[in-house]
Amino acid sequence: MKIISVVGARPNFMKIAPFIRAIEKHNRQSAVHVEHILVHTGQHYDHQMSQTFFDALNIPPADIHLEVGSGTHAEQVGNTMIAFEKVVMSEKPDWVVVVGDVNATLACSVTAKKLHVKCCHIEAGLRSGDLTMPEEINRLVTDRLSDLLLTPDTLSIENLKGEGVPGEKIEFVGNIMIDTLEEQRAKAAGLKIEEVLKENLLIQGSVLPAVEEEHYAVMTLHRPSNVDHREIFTPLIDFLTGEVEMPLLWPIHPRARKQLEIFGLWDKVVAAPNLVLMRPIGYHDMLRLNMNARIFLTDSGGLQEECTVLGTPCLTMRWNTERPITLSEHGGASVLVGNNVERIREEYHNALAKPRKPVRPELWDGKTAERCLAAIIKAS
Ligand code: UD1
Repeated sequence: MKIISVVGARPNFMKIAPFIRAIEKHNRQSAVHVEHILVHTGQHYDHQMSQTFFDALNIPPADIHLEVGSGTHAEQVGNTMIAFEKVVMSEKPDWVVVVGDVNATLACSVTAKKLHVKCCHIEAGLRSGDLTMPEEINRLVTDRLSDLLLTPDTLSIENLKGEGVPGEKIEFVGNIMIDTLEEQRAKAAGLKIEEVLKENLLIQGSVLPAVEEEHYAVMTLHRPSNVDHREIFTPLIDFLTGEVEMPLLWPIHPRARKQLEIFGLWDKVVAAPNLVLMRPIGYHDMLRLNMNARIFLTDSGGLQEECTVLGTPCLTMRWNTERPITLSEHGGASVLVGNNVERIREEYHNALAKPRKPVRPELWDGKTAERCLAAIIKAS
């Protein structure tokens, strides 16, 4: 059996690492060989957004690199389809495996199906219901086309059934990203916080506030809905620089940095005494910061999940989420706060009053990748 799996952007790497490991393990133990080809579409190309994760998670170098780079959505998806079509036609795989909800996920699932190749989606069935999110379109199309839909939780199964997906195409496997978290947490725990800060400071030599364990906040922001509009981003920055009374560690995504510069907010952010500006940080560094953070502010779906497993109180800076299992009403660590400062302020103070409470949703047990591969073999 021949499988092509696809990665494109940062959140894909921690999902594909355990899948590759599961194939390697299978090939050591079974007579039925699985041939695997890893394709990197090149959507994320900065060293810190891509290669760092290959190195940290022992992902073998991609067999094929499509080098599509940045661009509008149509450019990214179109260029990926054109390049990936050639790969599928020459490699003739039995399966194309896509993960998550980025543009690579959409482009490669559509390309595979148009060439009559079976497609498996890992992390199927998540729905925010918000079609202004590019990722929601990617999820809907990928799930509509896929032959095998592997879900991270039971709420996702209900979403798929509600859309008319036949039950025999769906399998509940758990959250593959948690396989990586479990594999790497001991290594992350061994890191020293001051080293993480020193190595990742955006502006070398800048004066740091004293960062003590359990008394710092971490933030990530990258969604267009938060960073692309001046009238939204400006009050957020006012709150973050004026009202967060502990060190706020902020690894800055390239999109957020570009927007801060465009809106003339960059100097204010650099001068704020409570902000620790960092470049995009590696997997272990982020896990280490998350483990002892007092509170996390983020618009990333993956971090919402990691906060839930680690128990870090998390303010999700979005109005909806495709990952409701992480919300406090389902027992998780995260609360939706959107980008309204009053709401963020209120929930910030509520979260500070809450103790750390790790939660483990069903099958988030570190063994998801093996179940994914078993499901593909069974469906072949
Ligand atoms: C993508 C994913 C998003 C995911 C996020 C994680 C889609 C639709 N979105 O969004 O779901 O949460 O990755 O990071 O696929 N840039 C660089 N260097 C890079 C990559 C990007 O400088 O290596 C800059 C470019 O100016 C680019 C911008 O960042 O225009 C945005 O990158 P893009 O890949 O379009 O989307 P993300 O916002 O990263």
